[in-house]
Amino acid sequence: MDASWNQDHGRTMTKLVVMGDPGVDDAVAILCAAHFGTLLGIVATHGNAPAEVTARNALALCERAGLEVPVARGCPRSLMGEGTVSGAAFHGSAGLAGVALPEPKQALDPRCGAQFLIETASAHRGELVVVVTGAHTDLALALRLEPRLVSWLRAVAVMGGTAGPGNARPMACLNVLADPEAAAIVATSGLPLFWLGYELTRTVVLGEAELVRLEEGGKVARTMAAALRAYRERYRRVYGIDGAPIHDALAVLALALAERVPPGILRFVPTALEVVCAHGPARGMTIVDLRGIVDAAALPEDRRPRPPNVAYAVAVDREAAVEAVVAAILSYD
Ligand code: RIB
Ligand code: CA
Repeated sequence: MDASWNQDHGRTMTKLVVMGDPGVDDAVAILCAAHFGTLLGIVATHGNAPAEVTARNALALCERAGLEVPVARGCPRSLMGEGTVSGAAFHGSAGLAGVALPEPKQALDPRCGAQFLIETASAHRGELVVVVTGAHTDLALALRLEPRLVSWLRAVAVMGGTAGPGNARPMACLNVLADPEAAAIVATSGLPLFWLGYELTRTVVLGEAELVRLEEGGKVARTMAAALRAYRERYRRVYGIDGAPIHDALAVLALALAERVPPGILRFVPTALEVVCAHGPARGMTIVDLRGIVDAAALPEDRRPRPPNVAYAVAVDREAAVEAVVAAILSYD
């Protein structure tokens, strides 16, 4: 897997579908996707809030931002039918704490999320990039329903899992814990995966200076400033981190059009990533092999790394990422 894929994939606008659970940082990711690429649709997944809530938020956000983008509702529960984990502690019970967007006028796409993705990928074979910023349930279902997706999709960026501290559990991130079996299906699918873990994404936050810039912007920027302030307050209260993280937006920057996103914001290395599905304290963990072994043959068989299945994000230019995201949000009226 060529980890520099996102640096030189040509000059056309990247066609994107976001599969996420807005959610404050998902909302930022959606705005970035529509700014840096061609956003063909949103699949609202369960995770930060129930799928019907994230679907409503996606519709309401698109109307606020003037985005005419289809929104399809994802599965309400994980593949195994467990109750979804919740991000309400950070995003509020309605998923977008800090703002009260009007009830959306636009209806949901009549297709379920998996079918919407299959049909969109089929219509844009070899061109569509998927950005997963919530549970993997709908992508996993789509892969089972239509195995040709592996060749139809150009790439998949995933924000989820962690190679260090987690959030929903000590070493597990909400997006993978919400449906570990689904994340395992995605991780072993053979798709070109660009994977960003929570240990890296949590280090990129919008601070007071950025929030003030947004408050001096248009209606969309002011709306996001209010949501990000509430998000930041919850992060400050819980973690002592004085900033609003932009986890999901980084997954968009990973694969957005290099022409409009300064190249090199993120650095990826091919590595082996495995999702733990066994029930118990490790469920939902992502085992990421970052040992940096360069000559596996020098090791006994049982210590050799598994073949790489993802390009894993190991470094980020924080200043460039923050600037790109703030510029994207300010570009809206
Ligand atoms: O762990 C960060 C992830 O969990 C982000 O996608 C955030 O939106 C929450 O869903
Ligand atoms: Ca999310």
